[in-house]
Amino acid sequence: MAAPTRLGVLVSGKGSNLRNLVERGYRVVAVATNRPSCGAAAFARERGLPLGEFSQRRFGSVEERDAAMQVWLQGHGVELVVNAGYDRILTPGFVAAFRDRIINVHPSLLPAFAGGMDAVERALARGVAITGCTVHVVTEEVDAGPILVQAAVPVLPGDTVETLRARIQAEEHRILPEAIELLAQASPSLRQ
Ligand code: GRF
Repeated sequence: MAAPTRLGVLVSGKGSNLRNLVERGYRVVAVATNRPSCGAAAFARERGLPLGEFSQRRFGSVEERDAAMQVWLQGHGVELVVNAGYDRILTPGFVAAFRDRIINVHPSLLPAFAGGMDAVERALARGVAITGCTVHVVTEEVDAGPILVQAAVPVLPGDTVETLRARIQAEEHRILPEAIELLAQASPSLRQ
């Protein structure tokens, strides 16, 4: 059974990880986006999930944007923040407010291909035989927090960015829930 942890999911992309969590019965109490026109935001609206829109242009600085997002997430009782395809770097103030309560899914076997949104492209261009995905705790340093779960994925002959990304995402959809369960087991306050 999916852990009852109250999740706040941060999104900027097509939303396959968000959809996967919702369909598996996770308790998504808030979805926040910096890109109101993204597929993930459309999915949140369709499902009637509380959606917070935090486009950078509405704020004077990244600190103001993250402070507003923090207050909004806290107002929804979020216990664990899940970056599921969120394409902004969180400010130190936001990370401190949810210390050890933010996780990120990254499409490579960290520390390989850390940083940036093009990890799949770089792995393919580098000619690696194995890549994968990682769920880690978010700290102030990008893609460098403690690793919770990883999955290896083979690069097959003839792979394109699209075919490789699809194989990696299938694993993301398995390990992100696994990481949430791990944290819920480790931390009584997330189990309730
Ligand atoms: C995922 O591949 C994740 O690793 C990366 O962004 C992508 C988001 O995909 N950080 P989706 O929006 O959940 O489909």
